Amino acid sequence: MEERIIDGEISEFDERFEQSLRPQRLSQYIGQQKVKHNLEIFIEAAKMRNESLDHVLLYGPPGLGKTTLATVIANEMEVGVKMTSGPAIERPGDLAAIVSSLEPGDVLFIDEIHRLNRSIEEVLYPAMEDFCLDIVVGKGPTARSVRLDLPPFTLIGATTRAGALSAPLRDRFGVLSRLEYYDTEALTDIVERSAALFEADIDPHAAIEIARRSRGTPRIANRLLKRVRDYAMVRGNGSITTEMAEQALEMLQVDPLGLDHIDHKLLTGMISRFRGGPVGVDTIAASIGEESTTIEDVYEPYLLQIGFIQRTPRGRTVTPLAYEHFKMEMPE
Ligand SMILES: Nc1ncnc2c1ncn2[C@@H]1O[C@H](COP(=O)(O)OP(=O)(O)OP(=O)(O)O)[C@@H](O)[C@H]1O
Ligand SMILES: [Mg+2]
Repeated sequence: MEERIIDGEISEFDERFEQSLRPQRLSQYIGQQKVKHNLEIFIEAAKMRNESLDHVLLYGPPGLGKTTLATVIANEMEVGVKMTSGPAIERPGDLAAIVSSLEPGDVLFIDEIHRLNRSIEEVLYPAMEDFCLDIVVGKGPTARSVRLDLPPFTLIGATTRAGALSAPLRDRFGVLSRLEYYDTEALTDIVERSAALFEADIDPHAAIEIARRSRGTPRIANRLLKRVRDYAMVRGNGSITTEMAEQALEMLQVDPLGLDHIDHKLLTGMISRFRGGPVGVDTIAASIGEESTTIEDVYEPYLLQIGFIQRTPRGRTVTPLAYEHFKMEMPE
């Protein structure tokens, strides 16, 4: 699979600067009003009662701010945070080592929590419910179970695939927060905030232009901003004017809706070879030389989200909106 500038997944390029752009407090966390509002109340209540915050599950597509929000919650609670991920916890002992190092009230963040294996999940249940661990020591006939008390803590789980979580695990979270794609206004604020942190001068229209092409995703907004800033430094005087932004985005081949050449290839291929569908995913995949799962998990979600493709029982169809975008005639 080729690397795409408009991919929501984290890349090495992002890793180098994302940390410095991460909001630290709820007041700096832009958008997601509903989620923020709920959390504000839960956090304040927990602090008033002097208790640890309920376990929180954050879910939503990549790059929308789940990891960021977990750190923000810990900061607002004024507690420490330990970070790990589903695939990193291989044996019950790994989990035991982490939870027994927590201070009272701390946040334990488990990224990609849908990838925890079953045996770990079972150890996690009593830890979440009663703040204790049941550990088996020894082997065979002499094996016995030992109960270990833990300090109260808050588990924050993050996942891009809430549906892949087992029901018993999901039920043990007191707060379930779904992060939504950001609108252009919120993304514009994010671009302006990041530009300020980069100490880059940006025209308001340039910020809007970047926001529009970011597919509702802060990670993509920051990545595009970084590229545009570089372009403005090399081709201009460093100031991000609307003209500079437009030129840079054109060079990056990201169109005004955030579509790239792969989206174009997919959509125009469906139009020219299959009269816009309905056509099955497997057939589309074969025609452009990709796996069907890549189409379903990576290429298709945003196109469905903006209403360029529709799922029907007989396959995918290209909608009139997409024809309009490409200035193509829709077949009768
Ligand atoms: N609400 C927000 N306000 C400002 N910046 C944000 C916000 N949400 C995310 N960001 C920025 O976007 C970047 C990506 O966010 P983050 O790493 O939290 O996403 P994620 O949902 O954890 O992604 P993944 O699914 O890949 O783990 C962060 O570095 C941060 O700078
Ligand atoms: Mg993350």
